[in-house]
Amino acid sequence: MAPAGSPVLTWGRPLLLVLSVLCNLILPSAAVKHDLFKTCSQSGFCARNRAYADAAASLSSSWASPYALDPSSLSFSDGQLRATVVKAVLGTDATANFPLTVSFLESGVARVTLDEERRRKGDIELRHGSKARKERYDEAAKWALVGGLELSKGAVMTEVDDPNGAAKVRYGPDGKFEAVVTFAPFSLEFLRDGATHVKFNERGLLNMEHWRQKKEKVEGEGEGEEGKQEMVDTPEDESTWWDESFGGNTDSKPRGPESVALDISFPGYEHVYGIPEHASSMSLKQTRGGHGNYNEPYRLYNADVFEYIMDSPMTLYGAIPFMQAHRKDSTVGLFWLNAAETWIDIVKAKTGANPLSLGVSGKTNTQTHWMSESGLLDVFVFLGPTPRDVTTKYGELTGFTQLPQEFAIAYHQCRWNYVTDQDVMAVDRKFDKHDIPYDVIWLDIEYTQEKKYFTFDPLTFPDPKKMHAQLDGHHRKLVAIIDPHIKNVGDYPIVDEMKSKGLAAMNKDGNAYEGWCWPGSSYWVDCFNPLAIEWWKGLFKYDRFIGTAPNTFIWNDMNEPSVFNGPETTMPKDNLHHGNWEHRDVHNLNGLTFVNATYEAMLYRDGKKPADMRRPFVLTRSFYAGSQRMGAMWTGDNQADWSHLAASLPMILNNGISGFPFAGADVGGFFGNPSKELLTRWYQAGAFYPFFRGHAHIDTRRREPYLVGEPYTSIITQALRLRYALLPAWYTAFHEASVTGAPVVRPMFYEHPADEASAPVDDQMYLGGTGLLVKPVTAEGQTAVDVYLPDSTPYFDYFDFTRYAGPGVVRVPAPLEKVPLLMGAGHIIPRRDRPRRSSGLMKYDPLTLVVVLDEAGGASGEVYLDDGESFDFEQGGYIHRRFALDAGTRALTSVDVAARKGAKTAAFERDMAGVKVERVVVVNAPEEWKGKTEVHVSEEGARESQRRRPVGFEWVEGAKGKASWAVVRNPKVGVGKGWKIDFS
Ligand code: NOJ
Repeated sequence: MAPAGSPVLTWGRPLLLVLSVLCNLILPSAAVKHDLFKTCSQSGFCARNRAYADAAASLSSSWASPYALDPSSLSFSDGQLRATVVKAVLGTDATANFPLTVSFLESGVARVTLDEERRRKGDIELRHGSKARKERYDEAAKWALVGGLELSKGAVMTEVDDPNGAAKVRYGPDGKFEAVVTFAPFSLEFLRDGATHVKFNERGLLNMEHWRQKKEKVEGEGEGEEGKQEMVDTPEDESTWWDESFGGNTDSKPRGPESVALDISFPGYEHVYGIPEHASSMSLKQTRGGHGNYNEPYRLYNADVFEYIMDSPMTLYGAIPFMQAHRKDSTVGLFWLNAAETWIDIVKAKTGANPLSLGVSGKTNTQTHWMSESGLLDVFVFLGPTPRDVTTKYGELTGFTQLPQEFAIAYHQCRWNYVTDQDVMAVDRKFDKHDIPYDVIWLDIEYTQEKKYFTFDPLTFPDPKKMHAQLDGHHRKLVAIIDPHIKNVGDYPIVDEMKSKGLAAMNKDGNAYEGWCWPGSSYWVDCFNPLAIEWWKGLFKYDRFIGTAPNTFIWNDMNEPSVFNGPETTMPKDNLHHGNWEHRDVHNLNGLTFVNATYEAMLYRDGKKPADMRRPFVLTRSFYAGSQRMGAMWTGDNQADWSHLAASLPMILNNGISGFPFAGADVGGFFGNPSKELLTRWYQAGAFYPFFRGHAHIDTRRREPYLVGEPYTSIITQALRLRYALLPAWYTAFHEASVTGAPVVRPMFYEHPADEASAPVDDQMYLGGTGLLVKPVTAEGQTAVDVYLPDSTPYFDYFDFTRYAGPGVVRVPAPLEKVPLLMGAGHIIPRRDRPRRSSGLMKYDPLTLVVVLDEAGGASGEVYLDDGESFDFEQGGYIHRRFALDAGTRALTSVDVAARKGAKTAAFERDMAGVKVERVVVVNAPEEWKGKTEVHVSEEGARESQRRRPVGFEWVEGAKGKASWAVVRNPKVGVGKGWKIDFS
């Protein structure tokens, strides 16, 4: 009954209610709270720089950038060009000096750095008595870079013109690259083989907001000249120069305006990729409006964006300011090394189109505009020419992805939360009961005693040792969450130690910063501080984090950092970190420093000797360039919605080509309850994420694969088994990523840079160099997918060998039980086909090789194996074989990829001596093999009598549309040995 006074419901109201409930069931009800996060117009420096760009554009040819290189300051030595760039402060006679360094690196990469002379000398005053540093932040390189900085010995300055002219430097491989520095206005061009690929300040948008004294308004003075600031950058208003408020929080900005901005153009390039993390397409969109474009720049300001939306340039949890520009046969790159809040505008301009000559279109130039709130201008330029060249050179600078432990690339089972140790053990048993493989079970925040990290709740987890032991029985692991916010409560030694040692991030007054997160009132460990790292390392020792065991690994969440009551759910920008750097300067690095400390802690947990160490596994939500060295990332709090499943593919691909390939998305969707179909499709897609974890919000229904019901449970189990069977291929791809920077899953353009139609494709991907091409189903009710094949190379269905060939789109059936997966001709794929409970139990299993012959009858591939956990591989403790079936000799051989001699080589070979190839499947097998019943195997080191031993062989004719195939039965050749199988 309705309470007295409540309106009487009419028939119309309930109907509306029902409709609205129905709509809520159909439409995702969750959406980001837009007013929590800034738009460009609400972010002072972004608005100022966009206005600067608009002013320049409106003045068009009469606009001249006020920056000029002083020719008398120019010098060149040891691969570095140095000079001073002078800014004429508009509307005044004043100038500001910016020391320029252009470093030409041995790798062929060029680095351009602009600092601010006055701030470098400390010759400025800070407002509000701030303790912040006076220099522009110059330590981003310390965190992000690990190598590749050797200066070129071959770079030469070839020309210096008169004062209005330019200096030219020839550099790079075979001197094929050239940098042209034009003095006035100052600009830079980068050329390869005589053609310009990258231009700086072409549009005159270079803007280094120099330090200036705030002139307080004198009482009685109007808005006349004297009442204004001493120096004026732009005609715009100054309301965001000296402080800035948003969402009830005021940023005190003790150094005033200090942004750095630059336009960077890619002439002739239609596609740009990278700058993760955004829920957007891989090929980035234009951001200045227009049909299908965004109105906002892409933003990089790591934040806990609750219920993030699709197809948006909004910032997310991580930031990698690395971009690739791509066109047919050429890829170049750019790394904007700056850790402050950054926005990037992208426009694509058609030039040279002749309206009278029908069909002759002009070329597209992509123009980008980079804007950061503070710090140095520090940009690296990569001239390619291939996507692989660019990712490798970028990886040489920021580090290649860590080679993970093998368990880490298997399947992870997570939810918020497994609530007791009994619960964990029961889930573990149920996976076994249903014969479903998994390697890792996860504990979210509820395992702790009242959100105090480094504790287990004694009521719900009374016996963590027993829990770990049960998992270890099947080589399984446990990952426990440790967040950076430390509960502000009495009787908690961790918080006492952190505060008494002065290891917490500070507020602007230099006191420990207190904010709100899961535990309530909290402090944040400041991992920029080397002493904090040392302290953190101690906390993970088994006698400190009591209840953990060698099979415990770590999840670092909320490390943007997420602060529930902070501006944009993070820390105030005027907070201070170690060295008195403002949070503003280092924000995007914060997550990396936290994971770095955890990585170090895990590395030293078992001892200081390399022999005692095992590869850490740390999952992070927040990241920056370089985080790939420390572990995996995932795309945060997605939703159980088809659109989020679809978005995961471009997000993961984009992360991969941006140097951080160990990436995944919550399988099933974090928020909400997926339909059984969605969950099944998500597992099929997840089986092709480099990081493969099912996870769910605390309010969702349980959805472990065995709970879903038939036929879904069986189909999900098949997807998991597919992942496990292909683990040797995945591990080989991770190895390649760890030494070359090649992504683990690769977009089409990466493998086919000469094919223009491949450039925008971001919903299908290759697994490493295996030729396996997957196009997961991401739409409800779909029973077939269109796969784009770039050329006439045949592809074969992974499961039934149906043959497809391009160029163009082919339709591949995809009933629910099938993930569309093709094998490209010419490849050899290593597998382990015996179903097991975990990857650890597969270590000594035999291999199957799937040889997919090309039209000529050849194929090749690789396998990389090591112990999957230690660092012995660094001392040769691995097996890396190349397999090739030669079209001419019809022999399949196994050879070492490279001479591999190290202290651990022999021991690992001995350990693997019993691991054999148990089957060779040849797809697209020639008809001439019809009727053959044996082939001959020779193996290095075999006894005379075994030199050319016959083994069983069968050739099977392909039914209509399917390839013929053949199988070599148990050739029993050692995986670490040289051998030959003769099919002739
Ligand atoms: C936020 C993370 O994104 C989510 O995965 C996790 O479950 C919750 N924090 C609770 O720790």
